[in-house]
Amino acid sequence: MFNKRIKVKELLQQAPEGQQVTVMGWVRTFRNNQFIALNDGSTNTNLQVVAELGKFEEGLLKRITTSASLKITGTVVPSVGKGQKLEIKATTIEILGDSDAEAYPLQPKKHSLEFLREKAHLRFRTNTFGSVFRIRHALAFAVHKFFNEKGFVYLHTPIITASDAEGAGEMFRVTTLPFENTPRNEDGSVNFKEDFFGKSTNLTVSGQLEGELGATAFGEIYTFGPTFRAENSNTARHLAEFWMIEPEMAFCDLEDNANLAEEFIKYIVRYVLENNREDVEFLAQRLAEEEKQLPQDKRSEMGLIEKLEFVLNNDFQRLSYTEAIDILKESNYNKKKKFQYPVTGWGMDLQSEHERYLVEKHFKKPVILMNYPASIKAFYMRLNEDGKTVAAMDILAPGIGEIVGGSQREERLEVLLEKMKAMHIPEEELSWYLDTRRFGTVPHAGFGLGFERMIQFVTGMGNIRDVIAFPRTPKSAEF
Ligand code: 4AD
Ligand code: MG
Repeated sequence: MFNKRIKVKELLQQAPEGQQVTVMGWVRTFRNNQFIALNDGSTNTNLQVVAELGKFEEGLLKRITTSASLKITGTVVPSVGKGQKLEIKATTIEILGDSDAEAYPLQPKKHSLEFLREKAHLRFRTNTFGSVFRIRHALAFAVHKFFNEKGFVYLHTPIITASDAEGAGEMFRVTTLPFENTPRNEDGSVNFKEDFFGKSTNLTVSGQLEGELGATAFGEIYTFGPTFRAENSNTARHLAEFWMIEPEMAFCDLEDNANLAEEFIKYIVRYVLENNREDVEFLAQRLAEEEKQLPQDKRSEMGLIEKLEFVLNNDFQRLSYTEAIDILKESNYNKKKKFQYPVTGWGMDLQSEHERYLVEKHFKKPVILMNYPASIKAFYMRLNEDGKTVAAMDILAPGIGEIVGGSQREERLEVLLEKMKAMHIPEEELSWYLDTRRFGTVPHAGFGLGFERMIQFVTGMGNIRDVIAFPRTPKSAEF
């Protein structure tokens, strides 16, 4: 058996009592021809391995270079060096894979995040990305744990679909039709009957519509999968391919929905604070150092851990869209014309600068904004009594802006049909969806949490490209 090894994370929790162990990993540094800092990805903390002078051949020692992979057997002894309680006195050192130190792109020094993005295939081997991606894993696990404990059914909604759930038209087309001699109808339009699925299809922008079918049978479901948006937004918060978690609940109104979302966010934050302390502390430190470079007024008021604990211990601020517009309009910020997009009044869509003002400057905590004008929201949202707002909610997080979008759904068939007509959504195309309203319709609601934005919030990473392994953004699909 090859893999008879102890992981560094587990080993570091043991007491050094002269036990024999086998460890495997990659060299981070090799000092004085004697001290190997070995990392195996289980933790950011490197294991110190001592190759006693004179005990190993020169030829072997020369091959212990940054990122070479090693198999080491040895004895666990207390460390006299600073910063670690134990180390391994090597008995045997086997080079599993050499690494040409000259050619290896990552040097044992601090690289910029921009540089590492270009080397995204190797960046997992740095401390920062080690921590980020272990936390990403932990958050994903916590998502499943939360919903499983609540009895939700995990529903796998399709990646390829024929509908535009959000009605925003930001879809990537899926087709096998040729670019040349494309089959056409008599009127010149593309004949999708000839296409693979016999109709026009695209990558999903949201699993919600299919999720509603699940919720109106199982009661409560969630989806957790990749979603795709062909929006040409080159920002630190947008990806063309991102992961979304979408719970959908029958017998649920807007308030229940907001309660669940708040409980859910707190649960997964708490999970990471309790289970990934070392990684969160590392990233908190990293962020603090990064912020030292910023002018005073651009720095966060709280450290990363303080911010996460604050979120756990305080209620999210809930208010209506109408109240938010009043606050924005009356703000000194607006009066001094500091917004790029002036606050024109009720009915306007909020820009991320407005959302961030509310969260970061005004309330200084996460905000749940509810009851938006019907005209700026998707067709499926439930029309309120006032006839002009819908039961929508967005959750806005400090440093991020919108992290959740959700709503109570329009369960009344007549009202829904009316809205679809007004928004030019053909009834025939969504006939399957409308069946939920035809056969035993119920009040129901749900939301979507952008997974990468959530990871940004928990890790303090400023750019969304640094919390997904291989980011897809306009003009970029490397690796
Ligand atoms: O607000 P959105 O568009 O809502 C929906 O898709 C609903 N169908 C969800 C539901 O009710 N089931 O997207 C939800 C969240 C946003 O709040 C944001 O966090 C994230 O998805 N998101 C993106 N994240 C990264 N890159 C993008 N281009 C994103 N677009 C949305
Ligand atoms: Mg939204």
